[in-house]
Amino acid sequence: MASYVLSGAEALTFSRGRNPVGFGLMEFSRSGICLPKMGAISFTGSNLKAKTVAPRCSASSSRPASQPRFIQHKKEAFWFYRFLSIVYDHVINPGHWTEDMRDDALEPADLYDPRLKVVDVGGGTGFTTLGIIKHIYPKNVTILDQSPHQLEKARQKEALKECTIIEGDAEDLPFPTDSVDRYISAGSIEYWPDPQRGIKEAYRVLKLGGLACVIGPVYPTFWLSRFFADMWMLFPKEEEYIEWFKKAGFKDVKLKRIGPKWYRGVRRHGLIMGCSVTGVKRESGDSPLQLGPKAEDVDKPVNPFAFLMRFILGTIAAAYYVLVPIYMWIKDQIVPKGQPI
Ligand SMILES: C[S@@+](CC[C@H](N)C(=O)[O-])C[C@H]1O[C@@H](n2cnc3c(N)ncnc32)[C@H](O)[C@@H]1O
Repeated sequence: MASYVLSGAEALTFSRGRNPVGFGLMEFSRSGICLPKMGAISFTGSNLKAKTVAPRCSASSSRPASQPRFIQHKKEAFWFYRFLSIVYDHVINPGHWTEDMRDDALEPADLYDPRLKVVDVGGGTGFTTLGIIKHIYPKNVTILDQSPHQLEKARQKEALKECTIIEGDAEDLPFPTDSVDRYISAGSIEYWPDPQRGIKEAYRVLKLGGLACVIGPVYPTFWLSRFFADMWMLFPKEEEYIEWFKKAGFKDVKLKRIGPKWYRGVRRHGLIMGCSVTGVKRESGDSPLQLGPKAEDVDKPVNPFAFLMRFILGTIAAAYYVLVPIYMWIKDQIVPKGQPI
């Protein structure tokens, strides 16, 4: 048995079984009391004493979200997907974001009624949208992305023909306040220079009682993975997601851990799709959170040399994360089942 304390909006105590890196669903109440779910993970209030050990998951220090990584910028992300869109469905999905994981991650989004109005923000080539339309009428689903190249791939998918597909920025959504039932965003937050602003926007566009589901990476603890993660893009810590949701005004904030099957629950390298975080809009209207002007103005000219260097270094770091799932897959094949890898 191991336990560790997270500090975030509230101090959270994680009490763990034998495997310190498994999956589970965590619930964070407004008072900071965290309730056990699915029997995998239990929490207590911050006033209880707990043994503090070296964190094994995402609970370690990283660069603050306010210091963006090389590709955690709108312009860099635009160019990154200018090229990645060509192979995205063939490279990213098999290694990091399988259909099983997608369905598991969408389960907390509670897509119980096909008539719900859903937006898929940073919807890209429509891989997550294909999971959404298993439950929702496609005509009720809008895919938004800042990359026309990614959206072009979505347009080519027959199953998504009835969806609305638009270009836009996750930090400045072109939807009215209180207008949608579900806000879903998978694997996009890591590119937003100001993730808190994106989550505040999720709150704004949802109807009262509507639910936001943000699926995203988790921070690695292995030194080399941490190095490349911090170069490439934002790998938030679990408690950062919770804090962003709570600050934006959401209630019933929950976090479900996800990951590829062949990782056997290993999270030390971080995961590009490592958790699904949900929250419910508590009051109609805009988020109670007040923010200053946008962190990044895409129309502002950038130094082309600095831009190129950021882009090249960020892409090198991304290449490391193409290798990690292959390495984990080989380990899974070699190490006998039931043993840790
Ligand atoms: C890893 S892909 C995920 C695509 C899709 N959601 C999926 O599940 O396969 C990330 C997407 O986020 C988009 N993106 C990055 N920054 C964005 C922003 N500020 N606003 C909207 N989309 C953004 C990228 O263009 C890219 O298509």
